Amino acid sequence: MKAFVTGAAGFIGSHICERLLKENYEVTGLDCFTDYYPKTIKKNNLRSLNKEKKFTFLEANILNIDLKRRLAGTDYLFHFAAQAGVRASWGQDFKVYTDNNITAVQHILEAVKENKKIRKIIFASSSSVYGDTKELPVRETAETLPVSPYGVTKLMGEKLFYSYGVNYNIPYIALRFFTVYGPRQRPDMGFNIFISKILKGENLPVFSGGRSTRDFTYVEDIVNCCLLAAKSKYTREIFNVGGGHRINLLEVIKKIESITGKKARIKLAEAQKGDVKNTWSDISKAKNLLGYAPKADLVYGLKKEVEWLQGQGCGHEY
Ligand SMILES: NC(=O)c1ccc[n+]([C@@H]2O[C@H](COP(=O)([O-])OP(=O)(O)OC[C@H]3O[C@@H](n4cnc5c(N)ncnc54)[C@H](O)[C@@H]3O)[C@@H](O)[C@H]2O)c1
Repeated sequence: MKAFVTGAAGFIGSHICERLLKENYEVTGLDCFTDYYPKTIKKNNLRSLNKEKKFTFLEANILNIDLKRRLAGTDYLFHFAAQAGVRASWGQDFKVYTDNNITAVQHILEAVKENKKIRKIIFASSSSVYGDTKELPVRETAETLPVSPYGVTKLMGEKLFYSYGVNYNIPYIALRFFTVYGPRQRPDMGFNIFISKILKGENLPVFSGGRSTRDFTYVEDIVNCCLLAAKSKYTREIFNVGGGHRINLLEVIKKIESITGKKARIKLAEAQKGDVKNTWSDISKAKNLLGYAPKADLVYGLKKEVEWLQGQGCGHEY
């Protein structure tokens, strides 16, 4: 079986590639190393993959390669490449979001619309499509009112999948990920910042006065759900993929303090534009139809991320 993963050098994409190789897939990973965070980090994400015989890396941008030819023999496509991050999506950088999250999706869909070999495309969507929903835990049927330009572009990605899906009979599933964490988490994401600053003894800005809550999902659970969705009989469906519980950010920091044995120097700050107050997924659809059951407990997942950051040398200067 052949799998193709876009965004393979990224946080979640690199984990998917590793898992697919373990399951004996032949994997092609594509990434163009956008400059949102350092290329050295992305190269590190690929380090163990590059040692695998069944892995081929393609350094290319979705927007300017012949994807139709590249995807010709593919059985499963995992489309994870995107411009992630809510806070950077305002202002001039919006074009980076429309290019990589909307136009890139259209390029993928044009490339596969006549491809009859692909069994399933998994599209990485986001809880950001819901915005500040009052319905908590939120179900897939809730109104989508994103409060960030990033969320708008991910919603447009879903809508493009739907349009092409119904017209060209494209088998796809959109998974709405709820804040993913674990080893290789992006450096702009909350837990990575919290752990790094605590390990280094630096001031730690906590937005919304620490009142906001999040549903956090361990990356291995995300990967499990992607594979369940890929192999399922379902198509043109949307599923929430969350950890299934929510927690206040100050409580997370307490857990990191107890894991690292170091005290956080918290500086409470105002909410940032585009951040939602709370997220909490209702995962009953994924449970019932896909058999998804998140396994990682938060302390286990945090320990794994702490170990990974320490392995990268974080905090060793103290
Ligand atoms: N991390 C989360 O908590 C989270 C939550 C919800 C949704 N998602 C979605 O999951 C996916 C993966 O997120 P991540 O956190 O691993 O992000 P990431 O930034 O680590 O990985 C994305 C990768 O895509 C690549 N890329 C971007 N545009 C490209 C293009 N045009 N051509 C080729 N490569 C391109 C980037 O270089 C990057 O390596 C994204 O689609 C994101 O929107 C992530």
